[in-house]
Amino acid sequence: MARLVLDYTAMMAPRLGGRGIRPEDLDAATAGFAAVQHDVDARRAAGRLAFFDLPREREVVDRIRAFADGLGQAFDTIVVLGIGGSALGTTALRHALCTSGWNELHEDDRDYFPRLYVLDNIDPATITPLLDRLDLNRTLFNVVSKSGTTAETMAQFLVLRDRMRASLGDGWRGHFLFTTDPEKGVLRALADAEGVPTLPIPPGVGGRFSVLSAVGLLPAALVGIDIDGLLAGAAEMDERCRTPELTRNPAALFAVLQHLADTKADARIHVMMPYSDRLYACADWFRQLWAESLGKRTALDGREVFVGPTPVAAIGATDQHSQVQLYIEGPFDKTITFLAVRDPGPDLAIPAAYPDVDALAYLAGHGLGELLEAERVATAAALADAGRMNMTIELPAIDEHAIGQLLMMLQIATVYAGALYGVDPLDQPGVEHGKRLTYGLMGRPGHARPEIRPSDPARICDGT
Ligand code: PA5
Repeated sequence: MARLVLDYTAMMAPRLGGRGIRPEDLDAATAGFAAVQHDVDARRAAGRLAFFDLPREREVVDRIRAFADGLGQAFDTIVVLGIGGSALGTTALRHALCTSGWNELHEDDRDYFPRLYVLDNIDPATITPLLDRLDLNRTLFNVVSKSGTTAETMAQFLVLRDRMRASLGDGWRGHFLFTTDPEKGVLRALADAEGVPTLPIPPGVGGRFSVLSAVGLLPAALVGIDIDGLLAGAAEMDERCRTPELTRNPAALFAVLQHLADTKADARIHVMMPYSDRLYACADWFRQLWAESLGKRTALDGREVFVGPTPVAAIGATDQHSQVQLYIEGPFDKTITFLAVRDPGPDLAIPAAYPDVDALAYLAGHGLGELLEAERVATAAALADAGRMNMTIELPAIDEHAIGQLLMMLQIATVYAGALYGVDPLDQPGVEHGKRLTYGLMGRPGHARPEIRPSDPARICDGT
């Protein structure tokens, strides 16, 4: 099958007129990478990196398929309730692999597959109108939470359970499926007590590494995405990334280049910029993966390090008219990773009109996709000419196999990057304090009401 390709020429100093990563630094990282791979292999063998096994998990795929082909057929709308890693992967899959505007299409044009909404926030201004508009009798709510206790997701569940009970009585249970830890958490206990069907998230798989578990696979299968293709692409990428030879391992190269850019070339902002609307949600998914995994106060050896690059999601060509001025002329503090597509599918021809107007005539005979690709190539070259580090991940096409490769590559890269920064990419201790304050404010037993320091009146500008 066609492979994803990483071109990093423009990360390197020779292409950038001296700025960027020095070849000798990459050589040193290449020599040191075998130790990183060894460490990752050891953690993997000890079962501490369970997401690596997801592409080969057959049992859950069979259960997903049985549900999608059986009970799942009763619904014309799927609503995922989840947040963070329990939602972003599903959104990425939907946008990449379903026809654009999926939820607005007539059911014929969706081949009678259901609509798919992902509610990843708790803003009533979004949720109330959506619920008012859906036919709840034909809606399945997939509650997704690894911990089974996340306040936002549990609050959404309580709202929906109440709404469904009011209209369906005990029948509400038939409209829910919980995707959660196989043993722990409130959601698991509720499923057992209420008799709600469930799918497991393997114990060692956390939210942002869970897109290839039932978290992403169930909604994907329900809307007709070929989950076997997705997993096959991911498995192939995993095989490619087993080599300790840095220059043959795309995930390792991506991680090492970003890490060198941060630590040797002061580029702490890592932009991911697809030239495809369908891939923007993948960049958004990556934003969470990179930020939550690598932004850490404490290193594995206990030292305070305060490390972590800042990921940014951008989109071409749109952000050429928003961000690119900054990327080309602002501080040398960024890398740009373009996502390109070798075979993006059918183009849309630009008609020949106004042959005498030079500013329009040159466009005639080309396609919109061709223009988009030309702009990507031109923007990458302009960045390099201005001494700005950039690289390109080229997908052969936007299909299940390619998306499986991309998602797996970026997850593996995150684990390598964790090793390079010396931090644990699987935890997120920094968000706990805010969670505890929220519990206190909302009156959760065991959590005292917190003292939130009031604002200084002298520091408030209210026009008086
Ligand atoms: O990646 C992560 O671990 C987090 O973003 C979680 O996915 C998010 O906090 C939701 O957690 P949970 O799935 O336990 O509800």
